[in-house]
Order: sequence, then structure tokens, then C-alpha cells
Amino acid sequence: PQSKAWWLDQLFQYQGFWIPSFGIRGSMLINDHFKPRSTDIIVATFPKCGTTWLRALVFSIINRNSFDFSDHPLRKANPQELVLFFEGYLHKYGSTSFVDGLPSPRLLSTHLPYSLFPTRMTDDTSACRFVYICRDPKDVFVSKWHFANKLRPKELPPLSLEEAFDLFCKGISEYGPFWDHGLGYWEASVESRKKVLFLKYEDVKKEPLGCVRKLAGFLGVPFTPEEENNETVAEIVKLCSFESLSNQNVNKSQTSSGERPVGNSDFFRKGEVGDWVNHLSPKMVEKLNQITEQKLNSRYWIQL
Ligand code: A3P
Repeated sequence: PQSKAWWLDQLFQYQGFWIPSFGIRGSMLINDHFKPRSTDIIVATFPKCGTTWLRALVFSIINRNSFDFSDHPLRKANPQELVLFFEGYLHKYGSTSFVDGLPSPRLLSTHLPYSLFPTRMTDDTSACRFVYICRDPKDVFVSKWHFANKLRPKELPPLSLEEAFDLFCKGISEYGPFWDHGLGYWEASVESRKKVLFLKYEDVKKEPLGCVRKLAGFLGVPFTPEEENNETVAEIVKLCSFESLSNQNVNKSQTSSGERPVGNSDFFRKGEVGDWVNHLSPKMVEKLNQITEQKLNSRYWIQL
């Protein structure tokens, strides 16, 4: 039966995480059939950490010589259409045939935890690359709560902030626990800097130019002196900014595609750092900070 937290009906505990059924199917198909290529780039995120932004940045960095900034695909399509949802497409087609047929370099986006990928993707440094973006869990929670209530069927009562908070703290949210998700990618990025690039939403906001240069370097396509001179880096930052993307007509649309009632506009709300101050009580802040500290301490070696 449907509960107030309706999306939970589709979540299952799977290898230490709460994964939607289509994600489990996608993960199984990846493990059994996916053939990685050295040119594959996987944009990996916990939901609401900046997936849309990172998809746009990676797409525009990789394709910067193919398009004019004034007539760019990001002005006509939502980043979701340009960097495809890996497990979503596998589930939709019931096989890897669709992604097998994509030309290189394949840009794919996933919410799956790092530990769910097969070793032929994670251990082989030449197999593929992952870029991950993490965000302050307080902002992630607030963003998620707004998003979930927007998608909620109208006949169901809204999920209160308190109820949602309790679930999030227990790790019960899509692809949660949030902390284990981020730590998995963090540890992988420490183990192999060539394999996983770990970015933070707050850093990209503060120093977008530096982060975009870092991203391009990691992806094997650093900016040339000519590109630095003709402001290509600044153009990419501007095109992918919240102000620019959220104001493209294509992203103002409520139209949804696929099975979930998600419109393009649903991926843009405020795009700020620290909006949690407007939503969370001091007690909630203390609790989230405490969990974060505990989780980090339990895997203390990564801070060395
Ligand atoms: P808020 O709800 O805090 O505004 P995701 O893309 O992972 O679903 O995350 C959505 C969050 O990223 C939302 O956060 C959204 O507003 C923000 N966002 C979307 N595009 C962005 C961009 N270009 N720059 C910064 N933040 C962006």
C-alpha cells in the first residue's frame, strides 16, 4: 500500500543502500553485461547534490569544440537528455543494447553507489572515469524534501519536514544513506586520483573557474592557452550556471518524460549554498552535523 512517503514503496535495501527497484535492475545489468570503454565518463551523484549542474559542465567541457555557445545544445535540451541516466536507460530497455550502441565518448549519469559497480569498471584504471559531486547534507536534505513534495501525488498528504528528516537521518532515502554513498566515492578518489574525481558543490560555487579547469584536466582534455585567452572556461561556467540554465525555455517546462512525474523545471529551485538556515531547527542542524561527524570518524583513515 502507498504510504505518505510514497516513494519509499519503491525502495529496497540492497547491499547496504536503499535503492529503487529500477536501480537494482540497472545495477544487475551493469554487473552482468556492461562492457566499459576507456573513454566512458560516469557522472555519479547522490540525488540533489548537483547532478544537473555536473551533467551540464561535463557535456560542455567534452563537446566544447563542436558547438557555438550562443546556439548550444544546453539551450535546447535539459542536461538529462544530453547525459543519459545510466540505470534508468538500462531498466527502460531491459538490456545494455542501447548504451552499447552509443558512440564514444559515452557520457552517463548514475546515482548508484560506487560499491555496486563491477571490479572491471572500478579496478581497471583504463576502463572508465567517474566524476562525483557531493554537497552539505543539510542542503541536500532540504532540496530533497522540496523535490519529493513536488512529485507527490496530489491525493496524498504532504510529507512533513520532521517526518522526512527522521527518515533521512536513518539513511532511508533514494540511494541512501547519504554518508555511505559519498564516503564510497571519496575513498575511491583517494585510492585512485585517475579513476574518481571528487568535487564539492560548495567549492564549484565558490571557485567555478578553478573547478572547471580541474574537471577538464581530469577528463583528459585540459584547456589550451588559446582557450584560456578566448575565455572558453568562463563561457562554460556562465552557460552552466544556475541563472543561465534555469532561464532556458526548455528548463522552464513542466513536461515530464519517463515513468516519474518529473518536469525539467523540477531540477531547478534556488541553487544556493546554505538554504538550510531557512528550514532546519537548531536541533535538526545539531543532529545532522553529529551524524556527519560520526560517519567520518568511523572511517577516520580517509582524513589523513
Ligand atoms: P536546490 O533545491 O537547493 O535549489 P540535482 O540536479 O542533483 O537533482 O540537484 C538539484 C539541486 O541543484 C537543486 O538545489 C537545484 O536548484 C540545484 N541546481 C540545478 N542546476 C544548478 C546549477 N546550474 N548550478 C547550481 N545549482 C544547480
